[in-house]
Amino acid sequence: MRKIFLFFGPPGSGKGTQSDAIGDYFHLPVISTGELLRHEEKSGTVLGKKIAQLIDKGELVSDELIHKIIAERIKRSDAAKGFILDGYPRDAEQLQDLLKMLSEHDLILLVEIRVSDKEVINRLGGRRVCDCGATYHIIYNPPKVAGRCNLCGKELYIRPDDKPEIIKDRLAGYKKSAEPLMSYAKKHHDLISVDGERLISEITEDLIEKLSKYA
Ligand code: AP5
Repeated sequence: MRKIFLFFGPPGSGKGTQSDAIGDYFHLPVISTGELLRHEEKSGTVLGKKIAQLIDKGELVSDELIHKIIAERIKRSDAAKGFILDGYPRDAEQLQDLLKMLSEHDLILLVEIRVSDKEVINRLGGRRVCDCGATYHIIYNPPKVAGRCNLCGKELYIRPDDKPEIIKDRLAGYKKSAEPLMSYAKKHHDLISVDGERLISEITEDLIEKLSKYA
């Protein structure tokens, strides 16, 4: 039986931060559609350029492309015992599509991180990222050396979609799709919902405790 944890929450709720910590703890690979798309974008391919045009404006890429990316990724050997999905599914259609790729024997668990709109704006406004995938916050989670990644030493930068006007659009897009997604998902799968407005370490501990019952 594979363990599949689906992380939900608005942009900036800490899905990436927490799913990385939980993946390390439970030895499960984290599959982040945002990371996979940004990786393709950086590769400079024709597809990467098309992706950049959408994600830099906070718009979603096509379900067809996301399906292809996920279907290929979950077949890899490191996902044989389970995996964490961060940023997918994003709406009820993507959830239906995902369920078709899974088996009835898989354990599917929803993990919701709740934060207010105000906190989303604080967080994304101070987020700094590295090409290696590491994420920081200038106040809440600063790097040891200002502007440099702790892991690889590269220069940190602001994601193009973390501009204030684009944050508003992403948040609005999330709200529109999250409600039908969550109401459908909750009817069929167990849900763990945590308050995301606490210290990063506190939320991780809370999640580990709750998820251990399933691991
Ligand atoms: P994606 O990268 O998934 O963006 P998102 O869902 O908007 O989420 P974020 O990455 O912005 O936030 P997060 O919740 O991971 O927070 P984080 O841990 O970084 O997707 C990007 C784009 O790709 C989409 O807009 C879309 O275009 C496309 N895409 C992706 N998936 C798709 C799909 N399925 N279908 C179609 N298109 C898709 O934390 C945020 C900040 O807060 C950081 O600075 C962090 O250090 C800080 N922080 C975290 N936790 C705390 C805490 N507890 N206290 C204080 N600070 C904290």
